[in-house]
Amino acid sequence: MRKTIVAGNWKMNGSSESIKSLMGALTAGVVAVDGLETLVCPPAPYIGLVADLKGESPIALGAQNVSAQESGAFTGEWSLGMLQDLGCSHVILGHSERRSLFGETDADVADKFVAAVDADVIPVLCIGETLEQREAGQTIDVVSAQVDAVLNQAGSERFMNAVIAYEPVWAIGTGLTATPEQAQEVHAAIRAQLAQADADMAAKLPILYGGSMNAGNAAELLAQNDIDGGLIGGASLKADEFLTICAVAAERRK
Ligand code: 13P
Repeated sequence: MRKTIVAGNWKMNGSSESIKSLMGALTAGVVAVDGLETLVCPPAPYIGLVADLKGESPIALGAQNVSAQESGAFTGEWSLGMLQDLGCSHVILGHSERRSLFGETDADVADKFVAAVDADVIPVLCIGETLEQREAGQTIDVVSAQVDAVLNQAGSERFMNAVIAYEPVWAIGTGLTATPEQAQEVHAAIRAQLAQADADMAAKLPILYGGSMNAGNAAELLAQNDIDGGLIGGASLKADEFLTICAVAAERRK
């Protein structure tokens, strides 16, 4: 059985104080379950704080972005080595906000993906279509091109140590959620595409859903065959909501 992953993308939210309180509740409430990974991705300046606060709890730590460069004159960037130094095991790459607001291209995302896997940091590769693309019937083509851009450069072997997150752009932060059927259809298409490169890798690769996932809709989304967890924005900032989603995911492992 594939791993299940419940990941919180805190985006650019929080303060030392709010993060201490959130992590206090999460470390007290999180339960270690075989095959279930709980991950939090704080804003970069707070990664060290969260590393301290998580202590020995079964919460893994990730970043929301990274440079593909190792070191040097890259003002405002940080490297995979630095993330590892702080205890990060994962990094979110190619989030739609980075693509649309900061001009990240498929090629940039592919470079970062290769660098992350080669540095032993697990990339959480985000892909997804806009509303316009969905309405034009282009969803599968768009998502498949985003996967191909990375697959062609990184090769299928690197996907053995990766996670994909399908995040329809129109569902992010809008309160609109893909229906379980809509999400399942895209997840299955991604898996079929990967299977053409390597069936074993495709069968093992966790594909998460992201886009207004919350405590109320997690069960029906996570019940789908090809949905292996969630990448959660807004609801990951509320300890009860996030822990409820973790509990739903834990149920799915039984
Ligand atoms: P929301 O859960 O706030 O819609 O955000 C989803 C997301 O972008 C996670 O990366």
